[in-house]
Amino acid sequence: MTSTASNPTGATPIKVALLGCGTVGTEVVRLLHEQADDLAARIGAPVELAGIAVRRPNKHRDVPAELLTTDATALVSRPDVDVVVEVIGGIEPVRTLLVDALSAGKSVVTANKALLAENGGELFTAADDSGADLYFEAAVAGAIPLLRPLRESLAGDRITRVMGIVNGTTNYILSAMEATGSGYAEALEEASRLGYAEADPTADVDGFDAAAKAAILASIAFHTRVTAADVHREGISSVTAADIAAARSLDRSVKLLAICERVTDAEGDEAVSVRVHPAMIPKSHPLAGVGGAFNAVFVEADAAGQLMFYGQGAGGAPTASAVLGDLVAVARNRVASGRGPRESAYAELPVRPMGQTRTAYHISLDVADQPGVLTQVAAVFAEHGVSIAAVRQEGRDHEPSASLVVVTHAAPDAALRSTVDKVAGLPVVREVVSVMRVEGEEQ
Ligand SMILES: NC(=O)c1ccc[n+]([C@@H]2O[C@H](COP(=O)([O-])OP(=O)(O)OC[C@H]3O[C@@H](n4cnc5c(N)ncnc54)[C@H](OP(=O)(O)O)[C@@H]3O)[C@@H](O)[C@H]2O)c1
Repeated sequence: MTSTASNPTGATPIKVALLGCGTVGTEVVRLLHEQADDLAARIGAPVELAGIAVRRPNKHRDVPAELLTTDATALVSRPDVDVVVEVIGGIEPVRTLLVDALSAGKSVVTANKALLAENGGELFTAADDSGADLYFEAAVAGAIPLLRPLRESLAGDRITRVMGIVNGTTNYILSAMEATGSGYAEALEEASRLGYAEADPTADVDGFDAAAKAAILASIAFHTRVTAADVHREGISSVTAADIAAARSLDRSVKLLAICERVTDAEGDEAVSVRVHPAMIPKSHPLAGVGGAFNAVFVEADAAGQLMFYGQGAGGAPTASAVLGDLVAVARNRVASGRGPRESAYAELPVRPMGQTRTAYHISLDVADQPGVLTQVAAVFAEHGVSIAAVRQEGRDHEPSASLVVVTHAAPDAALRSTVDKVAGLPVVREVVSVMRVEGEEQ
């Protein structure tokens, strides 16, 4: 199988080196083949695969053997290669391969969120030095057109917030916990059995994948280089059935959110806050209805207002759709002897530490059922400068304990953390049943 586009105009073919032929790469090869004529018509020149780099060529019987190579370095440096499409993943050897390709003036299309979140600056510098294109739509939220709208369509606006569900595995697990009342371990096991979680789910459940995507989103939205290390990250492994039940009782859902915000301090100086953590959002919020493995991203901008992007955030064909879209863009640029948008990091905003980021908490306590408990608890909140938005206290029949739920107004995260620690130590507090941030409503 190879791309066999007719070439009535006689335009010079765009030669593509494909690095990786796994879940995504296989679909890229299929679409390139099946849509060869349409792609040629849309670009103004046919696209041809120059070669495909893999680790184990014997595994790839559907691909013409003459295209396969295990020497990605030699493939990338071939003089006839115009564009490199990378769907291997991870940092090395990919970082070196892509820097070499860009430095040699070859445009790059990649789906590699980890590399962009770690070494994006280096790749962009190499692209700028040679005038090559670097496109990476598939790196965040799979098939959903998101980076191009942020990078291009909203380039004339001022984005204030990007908040989304960008990891399908964790959304599947949390949706299952909400639907069945099951605990985290049980829901993860089910997700693994059905193929929604990897054999090693760490990157997903501990929030690394979402943090890399948050770094990319914040970099583009706020014209500032943000790396994965700048992102405050909490995963979902400590979310309990009690947390989900507490959310349900308040008509909220628990979601793992990537939240990128433009924030302003008292002096009027701007910064960015980038975080990934589970949070309760009202059921009426558009993100609350995003179930299963789907992704959705909510964008707020000064002039555009609120926008929502929704769709399949992973999978071979959906991700290949985004890769092909980028390939068409860079090929068109090449045909027009032009270039797509370069990195925009001129704002260089500082990243605000999580402790200083203003969040709101929902805290569910098991307390002694006796007079004065609420006063003691409220005093701790006041001591830390945390103001309370709502309190609900319910006694339990025939039991000496009561349930006390406190929802706070927004306060610095560090103050909220200290408040919870101090409340947990009060003799009248038997147990801190659930602590979760609250998002998606006016504080
Ligand atoms: N899968 C998704 O749904 C999805 C969604 C969005 C983004 N992405 C991103 O897309 C990229 C690819 O993901 P994937 O799921 O397609 O991965 P995958 O199924 O594991 O495929 C990886 C491919 O890379 C090849 N490879 C690995 N190391 C290599 C090396 N040193 N030299 C040459 N080839 C090498 C493998 O060769 P062999 O086949 O011979 O082992 C395989 O074909 C990753 O960056 C991922 O984060 C994936």
